[in-house]
Amino acid sequence: MKKIIIAIDGFSSCGKSTMAKDLAKEIGYIYIDSGAMYRAVTLYCIESGLFASNGQINEEGLKEKMQDIHITFQLNPETQRPMTYLNGINVEDKIRTLEVSSRVSPVAALSFVRKALVEQQQAMGKEKGIVMDGRDIGTAVFPNAELKIFVTASASIRAQRRYEELKAKGQEASFEEILHNVEERDRIDQSREVSPLRKADDAILLDNSHLTIAQQKEWLQNEFEKATHA
Ligand code: DC
Repeated sequence: MKKIIIAIDGFSSCGKSTMAKDLAKEIGYIYIDSGAMYRAVTLYCIESGLFASNGQINEEGLKEKMQDIHITFQLNPETQRPMTYLNGINVEDKIRTLEVSSRVSPVAALSFVRKALVEQQQAMGKEKGIVMDGRDIGTAVFPNAELKIFVTASASIRAQRRYEELKAKGQEASFEEILHNVEERDRIDQSREVSPLRKADDAILLDNSHLTIAQQKEWLQNEFEKATHA
């Protein structure tokens, strides 16, 4: 069967990663979480003191350091889930904290950061057989992807999901704070100048507010079959 590129874009915390990961596993494709790459750059900024106390990023400092930031993925042999590595160190848990979540949007809005990461993402998709999720995969990274999905769900449902995720991991979280973070990221992601979050004209819209994981999985599998048999 011909291998294709599957681009899954959408709002934050709407379950894109779960659906993309599951699909990739099911069909034997490589899964790349492009958001993890923006998060890893953000973690690098935090750990290297590139954020001023008022939250401003030292853009010139980051520009100089971009070539020293190496992001890779490795499968966890136990869970078969991909883990994000920053300069050889597993940062999978560190990049999911609320601190990184609340600082990532301004980092992802920097054009030189996007340019560097998009180039790496395009190189990862050269052989096809890839499922990538993010915000600009169907519009900027792989505009010719054979299957494009744009996922959405209401902000409060997304905040509730993130709240439960953090609680399950034993991390302190306030629902109000998370909802604020989700809405703030939506606003920045949609209004930034470079590659703002938007549905590609040829992407299929999926509102999963009231879908179970199983229903969503079946829907996606069906779209994959249609795309590969087209
Ligand atoms: O999907 P996520 O929440 O892990 O993404 C983290 C941030 O990175 C989010 O605020 C938007 C940004 N992002 C982006 O700008 N482009 C992508 N392709 C993926 C994520």
